[in-house]
Amino acid sequence: MTTIVVGMQWGDEGKGKIIDILSEKADIIVRYQGGNNAGHTIVLPKEKFILHLIPSGILHKNKKCVIGNGVVVDPQSLIEEIVDLKKRGIEIDKNLLISERCHLIFPYHRILDKLREKKGLLKIGTTGRGIGPCYADKVSRCGIRFADLYSNDFKKKLKNNIKEKNAVLKTYGFKGFVFTEVYEQYQEFGERLKSYVCNCAAILNKAIGNKKNVLFEGAQGTLLDIDYGTYPYVTSSNAIAGGVCAGAGIAPTSIDKIIGVIKAYTTRVGEGPFPGQFSPKLMREFQHLGKEYGATTGRARRCGWFDAVLARHSVKINNLKTIAITKLDVLSNCETIKICTGYRYKNEVLKDLPADSDILFHCQPIYEEYAGWQEDISQIKEYKNLPDSAKKYLCKIEKLLMVKIKIVSVGSERGQTIFI
Ligand code: GDP
Ligand code: IMO
Ligand code: MG
Repeated sequence: MTTIVVGMQWGDEGKGKIIDILSEKADIIVRYQGGNNAGHTIVLPKEKFILHLIPSGILHKNKKCVIGNGVVVDPQSLIEEIVDLKKRGIEIDKNLLISERCHLIFPYHRILDKLREKKGLLKIGTTGRGIGPCYADKVSRCGIRFADLYSNDFKKKLKNNIKEKNAVLKTYGFKGFVFTEVYEQYQEFGERLKSYVCNCAAILNKAIGNKKNVLFEGAQGTLLDIDYGTYPYVTSSNAIAGGVCAGAGIAPTSIDKIIGVIKAYTTRVGEGPFPGQFSPKLMREFQHLGKEYGATTGRARRCGWFDAVLARHSVKINNLKTIAITKLDVLSNCETIKICTGYRYKNEVLKDLPADSDILFHCQPIYEEYAGWQEDISQIKEYKNLPDSAKKYLCKIEKLLMVKIKIVSVGSERGQTIFI
């Protein structure tokens, strides 16, 4: 059985928590895109983990965790993550596998990312991790992969890249990189990570053939997808379920199930259109109640009501039939709750997400309003015990999206989860 877990909004939907729970029944957990721009939080009774590159199944014993070829890997960041997890008693060496086809993030990617944000024409509000420039090199065919690190060509490839990047960096007034320093550093990283690097697609396809349970862990979310997100305010990979095939080396016919993860309201970090963004006062309240601060950069997340236009877009692109809804507990104490069901744009009513972000910037949300609930729901274990107005809210979402809600998350811990 293969299952994809995909984010339905602009990331941070609580994928880490849901994947951690679903990992119990999985044999292998696979990241297929993104990099250390991701921050997936898992809260245990006494400890909190934030994973950036290592799949969120790693906290369970004896689960293989695969970093698929579609992931861009900053080796320094990965080594730090490994060291930290090992210190905390997590078994890594037996369980972690990294695709030899993963592209590597170099210091020039990180600097280019930051300088473009500071001095370029378009500010995306990136995480500054070098993700975009690394994927750009991959597509330009000058990227460097793990396989290259262990080949005689590494020296030549890196030399060419540094020469080219230094010329660009000069135009930003940055002095550039010294080849030997980067070369030596990356040789060392290569040695430290060598034992994890392998042909992951072969292992995954064999496991699928042997009917193992494989869980694919999406990073970011559908609205940050390079093709189907709010371009250009997106990340540089295919975060949608469709990204799994290319990002892990799996055929479309090998996918059995796709689960969407969505927050009970909407958040976004960084720049870009957000039609239902709250006024500053309400936003501060949600940031406080929902602890809406980025797991990777610590930036405050922008917040708004549940947006069914965005959610329906995700349902279509990922062909979702079942979803998990998170952070329902954060809505407790709202006198009324709103859902955006369409956008007013000039004299039209839009029910679908426009491709043009400039249009989206000028869309006004059309809301339906519902009664809220005042009870604390964070300890509720069964659907039937939820307040009536919470159940009505969930039913409305199911109707608007034409999906079944199978999981309701009412707190950050494993136990704070209702299965329907
Ligand atoms: P991810 O990137 O999709 O894995 O999500 P993040 O970890 O970046 O952000 C989700 C945040 O919400 C984390 O701090 C989680 O611990 C927390 N969280 C997840 N589910 C719930 C929930 O149902 N209720 C509350 N209050 N917090 C939750
Ligand atoms: P997880 O997996 C939320 C956002 C950045 C920025 C845009 C581009 O934790 O849900 P990038 O550094 O990727 O070039 O930045 O994408 N972004 C995320 N927002 N959650 C994430 O990951 C994100 N990864 C990138 O804030 O707007
Ligand atoms: Mg996150």
